[in-house]
Amino acid sequence: MRVLLTGGTGTLGRAVLEVWSPHHEVIAPPRAELDLTRPPQIFEAVRQIRPEVILHAAAIADVDRCEADPDLAFRVNTVGTACLAAAAHEIGAVMIFISTDYVFDGAKGSPYTEFDPPNPINIYGRSKQLAEETVRSLCPRHFIVRTAWLFAPWGRHFVRQTVERIRHGEPVGGIAQTSSPTSVLDLARAMLYLLEIPAYGIYHIVNHGMASRYEMARVILAMLGRNPEEAARLSAVSGRRAPRPDRTPLRNYVLELQGRDPMRPWTEALAECLERMGLPIRHPPPGSLLP
Ligand SMILES: NC(=O)c1ccc[n+]([C@@H]2O[C@H](COP(=O)([O-])OP(=O)(O)OC[C@H]3O[C@@H](n4cnc5c(N)ncnc54)[C@H](OP(=O)(O)O)[C@@H]3O)[C@@H](O)[C@H]2O)c1
Repeated sequence: MRVLLTGGTGTLGRAVLEVWSPHHEVIAPPRAELDLTRPPQIFEAVRQIRPEVILHAAAIADVDRCEADPDLAFRVNTVGTACLAAAAHEIGAVMIFISTDYVFDGAKGSPYTEFDPPNPINIYGRSKQLAEETVRSLCPRHFIVRTAWLFAPWGRHFVRQTVERIRHGEPVGGIAQTSSPTSVLDLARAMLYLLEIPAYGIYHIVNHGMASRYEMARVILAMLGRNPEEAARLSAVSGRRAPRPDRTPLRNYVLELQGRDPMRPWTEALAECLERMGLPIRHPPPGSLLP
């Protein structure tokens, strides 16, 4: 199939290019050719490429940047997504929209399913929740994929920052905020599988298990053969503009109900990620480090 990928230079987009390209013709226009802040250009690009599937992974995913500049967040994440959804519907394409655990407020106390009502507490979460609504109303043939805490052998995220700090002999640690760490490679593989049947709707796709940033730091240290006690518990407040929901682990409930959840524990996916980064790792991580 011909696939139009937005966000091809991003952390997730790079994984989609790697995993999907052997199976599909993936076209990932650079921002100069498909800028989400330029609605006419969005329609023009979609009409010209005429994909069967649009995988929309581009976003302003920096939560504090969204809080500092709500106009930009709503322009790119919500209005840009709405245009893409309308363009997808116009040419009869299926749309896969990447959303987030931050549509939830974190107060539930157990993993969120697709049937829980969103209630975002920051601008990023609100911009994505509204984007979900536009996708649902403008493009009926859609998959809304909520995921969380992405990591990859590339890009800027907690795992790479922690590895860099260990490499440079700097202290590592994390806050108590908890979610579902997820490998972009596993997510890209699962979305390929999702496309096999047209069971459209909302899907949570995360690796199994949950962890706080602090617990992730401990597991990374242990996998690299270091003492997990080196990890410090950090306070959540320092230098952050946007409020974060405390606990937003997701459950792949719809995939479970369909009997086809392909995801594995996040620690296994993390081991693959660290190996791809060229790091010698210890298998498996000590179980006592995990909740
Ligand atoms: N990272 C996470 O932990 C996480 C968790 C849950 C959900 N998500 C969602 O997953 C998706 C992928 O996230 P990610 O971490 O891969 O993001 P990322 O690494 O920050 O990449 C963002 C991508 O969006 C593109 N982009 C930004 N503004 C654009 C614009 N105006 N027009 C066109 N493209 C634009 C960027 O292109 P340039 O290279 O040109 O800047 C880049 O390719 C996003 O929808 C995000 O909301 C992420």
